[in-house]
Amino acid sequence: MNFVQIVEGTTQFLIPWQDDATQFPPGSAPVFFNRRMELNRDATILLLKELRPDHYLDLMAATGVRALRVANECGIPVVANDRDFDSILLLRTNAHRLGLPVRVVNRDANALLSTERFETVDLDPFGSPAPFLDSAIRSARKYLFVTATDTAPLCGAHLKAGMRRYGAVPMNTDYHPEVGLRMLIGHVARETMKYDRGIEPLLSFSFEHFHRTHLRMVPGVRAADRTLASLGFIHQCPECSFRSVEAGLLPSGRTCRECSVALLPIGPLWIGDIADRALALRLLERMDGMVFGSKARLSRLLRILAGELPNLPHYDYHKEAKRLGVSPPAMDILLERLLQKGYGASRAHYSGTAVLTDAPLEVLEEVLSQ
Ligand SMILES: C[S@@+](CC[C@H](N)C(=O)[O-])C[C@H]1O[C@@H](n2cnc3c(N)ncnc32)[C@H](O)[C@@H]1O
Ligand SMILES: [Zn+2]
Repeated sequence: MNFVQIVEGTTQFLIPWQDDATQFPPGSAPVFFNRRMELNRDATILLLKELRPDHYLDLMAATGVRALRVANECGIPVVANDRDFDSILLLRTNAHRLGLPVRVVNRDANALLSTERFETVDLDPFGSPAPFLDSAIRSARKYLFVTATDTAPLCGAHLKAGMRRYGAVPMNTDYHPEVGLRMLIGHVARETMKYDRGIEPLLSFSFEHFHRTHLRMVPGVRAADRTLASLGFIHQCPECSFRSVEAGLLPSGRTCRECSVALLPIGPLWIGDIADRALALRLLERMDGMVFGSKARLSRLLRILAGELPNLPHYDYHKEAKRLGVSPPAMDILLERLLQKGYGASRAHYSGTAVLTDAPLEVLEEVLSQ
């Protein structure tokens, strides 16, 4: 293997040489490393600095970048696991070069999780986390962090794969990144509450090609019941933009007020908060003085998350304007018009044209046409 030395955050490590001429350079190397996941890792480092758990398991460590950054930049004891032996060799080398006491484990993820419990479990697989969620939930004492890159099944573009993996019905809509993120959290919620435990999302987001959620695992039936109460459906009109939200695990039949056609249920999904807004603000403050390659993008993301309304799902207001045949105003003007009418309105992190509001669709249409 040929190696290249890189720095992420303030941590130096080796990665295998990648062929940048290929369509997906990380796939060209024997041990996986994706530069485009830097923001994903930066967000976790920032959060761990705030949470300060006693220890942290990087379940699928590959080069070890995540675990080594946690050990080096947060000072938290880490366990780094991968079933691939080339990864283990590189991981050991990287830990040795940094002089960090990392416990390195070479086991299948589900086997490790079924025999040991960890305060924090971080699950960062190729594609879908679904085959590892049950054991990760059983193993995680306090925190569970999950990445999913199978965005097509999660958002409804690959419908059957989404239904099989996540036990819910997605739909490819204007707000598909939000459907994907809420499908993922909803599935973790159902897998958790069967053990009389609940989840509380600390920080979750959809970004580029992945979904990421950081959850607090809460023991007890009351927490499980609160989690159950945060599951439900989005009912989407197949003809127009009308949608409504319903809590519960059994969707009722609903009809569009505009078109009189049956609304289509999407879910069950997580319909609760995806992030703790006060925590997002604290993380923003913490960012001052920290070295992150994704600093500008991450602070923008955190700022938007901190201001997101709990209403769901978001509208893509450019698409709404196009449907109405009007030219869209600037985002700030649109938000101001909604606020002036007495409704809540905020940006949403899913895209630059994503708007959250408690205004009914006809009011949104009215202010877009103003
Ligand atoms: C997407 S990579 C992890 C990337 C890494 N966390 C990072 O931030 O760069 C997924 C890793 O999971 C490992 N893996 C896949 N299936 C596994 C399993 N069943 N048990 C343990 N490791 C597994 C692969 O060898 C690969 O190194
Ligand atoms: Zn309709």
